[in-house]
Amino acid sequence: MSEATERSLVLIKPDGVARGFVGEVIARIERKGLALVAMEHRLTTVAVAKEHYAEHAERPFYGSLVDFITGGPLVALVIEGPRAIAAFRQLAGGTDPVEKAAPGTIRGDFALEVQFNIVHGSDSAESAAREIGLWFPNL
Ligand code: PPS
Repeated sequence: MSEATERSLVLIKPDGVARGFVGEVIARIERKGLALVAMEHRLTTVAVAKEHYAEHAERPFYGSLVDFITGGPLVALVIEGPRAIAAFRQLAGGTDPVEKAAPGTIRGDFALEVQFNIVHGSDSAESAAREIGLWFPNL
């Protein structure tokens, strides 16, 4: 029996765009077998950034994270495929690019600091539905 198709929201964050990793990240998504459903290069408003990271509003890095994510263009994508949420988190590697992300993952290969960790991927079906609605309300 094949796995149910899922969608996930992926962000190639401003550090990933500035460092020229858009093609690399998209290539890894496609090589895994995931489909691109939507993709947009854009500047993010403070309102969208705050909403996106609302669950972290009480954490000490919240303000700095919102400044970072609104500080330059990013690429937002919706990807689709069997177990797309977990599949992309496997490609990304753990949040901390040194302590948690293994070599061979996007963060493990290209990042050093937790804030500048290149990509975001939805962490659950509930988050994916909320985040896709926020970033691509017309989808
Ligand atoms: S997770 O996946 O929710 O367990 O990760 P978490 O550690 O909770 O981090 C959530 C997002 O916050 C970012 N983050 C930070 N930014 C700046 N400074 C510090 N210290 C920091 N710690 C965590 C982290 O990159 C996660 O961003 P996203 O976009 O969700 O990956």
